[in-house]
Formats: sequence, structure tokens, C-alpha cells
Amino acid sequence: MQLTGKTRVLGIIGHPVAHSLSPLMQNAAIVALGLDYIYVPFPVEPQDLPGAVKGLRSLGVHGFNVTLPYKTAIIPLLDRISPEAELSGAVNTVKREDGLLIGYNTDGTGFIKSLAVDLCFNPLGATVLILGAGGAARGATAALCSSGVRKIIVANRTMENALALVTSFSDKYRGIEFGLSSLETKELAGPLGAANLLVNTTSVGMSGSSFNNLDLEVMTTGAKVYDMVYSPPETPLIAAAKRRNLSCANGLGMLAAQGENAFYLWTGVTPPPGTMKTMLLKAINL
Ligand code: ATR
Repeated sequence: MQLTGKTRVLGIIGHPVAHSLSPLMQNAAIVALGLDYIYVPFPVEPQDLPGAVKGLRSLGVHGFNVTLPYKTAIIPLLDRISPEAELSGAVNTVKREDGLLIGYNTDGTGFIKSLAVDLCFNPLGATVLILGAGGAARGATAALCSSGVRKIIVANRTMENALALVTSFSDKYRGIEFGLSSLETKELAGPLGAANLLVNTTSVGMSGSSFNNLDLEVMTTGAKVYDMVYSPPETPLIAAAKRRNLSCANGLGMLAAQGENAFYLWTGVTPPPGTMKTMLLKAINL
């Protein structure tokens, strides 16, 4: 990588960002293509977010990713956001266009791409059971609604959060059926049996945690399981899906795909297939 006076700067803002794998995978794609870009981490304290965005603007930074906890907080600081970002209420990618900062959401498009690549799953006409009702669930719901899903059931620990999510989407998507469930075994059996796809959007599965009562036995033979958690690579949910011989994938493909989509937005070039994912696999196996 050779920096020049013309090198375009990309980066990521978040709190913290030290753990982020984006600099590794984005720079791997930049180097693989020999582009005159560099991608750097920018740790931003919560009280400094408006100042940081102003600074990125003044410095002519070409584009940046936004990670936790700023995916929603950044929206009022941007000039415009895409329909996908509007729908999911979150921005994970910003691009400078004609001096304006435009917000996008490539988490959603990355999720759909990973479903296709890693599970050969097309949401068209499908029934999907989503575990969780936070930001990641909102992003997944928005992406599935734009991809022709037939029915979405949201199962969550706190029912009022699930209800709030479903209410905001059912108003907008009248042709899609929405359902609600708790995480209790009895109540979840019906939705699990009906689902073509089960998606975990919660942090359950990280550091050994697991859903207590999730019984995948009731899922149909062709059903698939997607866990957005990717560390450890084999989460308890993935292990349970494997025991049932269900096709399953962790969230590493989504992490790579959202990065590939952001890279394309900034550079207009598609990263060489597999470059980002290979780098991620190397990094998490260290
Ligand atoms: P994110 O933006 O990553 O989705 P979030 O907005 O904090 O994070 O949402 C976290 C989701 O994980 C929520 O649905 C949360 O359930 P509650 O609405 O009941 O809080 C869910 N979650 C987190 N820890 C959980 C646990 N131990 N068991 C079940 N659900 C959990």
C-alpha cells in the first residue's frame, strides 16, 4: 500500500472500534485491487459524535462505516439517507457525494446476500422467524420486507419491544403477515414449525450464552438457520441446527457482505470474491 497526496481516506467510527474487523477486511480489498484508498479506525466518544462528523466532513473523508452505538444517532447529522436506511432506522455506511454526506444501510443488503451465498436461501414467499427485536432485528425485517417475504414472526424476551417493531412494519407493509411470540418453548413451537428460516439477531450465543428453551426438533426438514453471531463460529444455535441436519450459517458472511457492499458504494468496484471473508476467517481464528 503506497500512500500519496491523492489517497482517499475511508474509515469507521464507533465506541469502541478497537475490536472492529472492518479495517482488516477493507484494507485487504484495497490492496488486492491496488486502489489508492486507505481505511482507518476512528474511535469517537459519545459526546464527540457531532464534532467528529463535522471533522470528517471538513477533512474530505471519502466515506466511513458507522458501528455501535451510533447507527441511529448519526442520522440527524447527515444530509440525506437512503430508503433502506430510513426503513431500518439505521445507517452503517456513509458516502461523501458532491460534498454531502449520504447515509446507507448495507447490513440489510449484506444479510440478504449472505442468505443467498451461505444458505442458498431466497426470502421470496418465505415464512421467517426472527429472534430479537433490537436494531439488528429491525434491519433484518426491513431487508426481508424488501425481498418479498410472506410472513415474519418476531419472538422476543420483552414483548413490548417485539410489538413496537411489528407495529411499525405492518403499517408500511400491508401485504406481509406479521406475528409475535415470546421465547417460551410452548409458544415458540408453532412459529418454529412454520418457519422456512430461523434468524437470531440477539447477542445470545456470544461467550457461551444460549437460549434455554429453543427446541429445533419441531422445525421442518428443509428449514434453515441463520445466527448473526459469529464468535464463537459454532454458537449453541448453530450446533443445535447441525444436530438436526438443518442447513445453517453464522454471521460472518453477513459481516463480509455488508463490507463488500460498502466498498462498492465508495469505490464503484466490487472487491474480489472471498477476499474479505478470507481475511475475517484468518482474524477470528488467531
Ligand atoms: P442490536 O442493536 O444489536 O440488535 P439491541 O438493540 O440492544 O442490540 O437488541 C438486543 C436484542 O437482543 C433485544 O431483542 C433483546 O431482548 P429485549 O428486547 O428483551 O431486551 C435481545 N437480548 C439480549 N440479551 C438477551 C438474552 N439474554 N436473552 C434473550 N434476548 C436477549
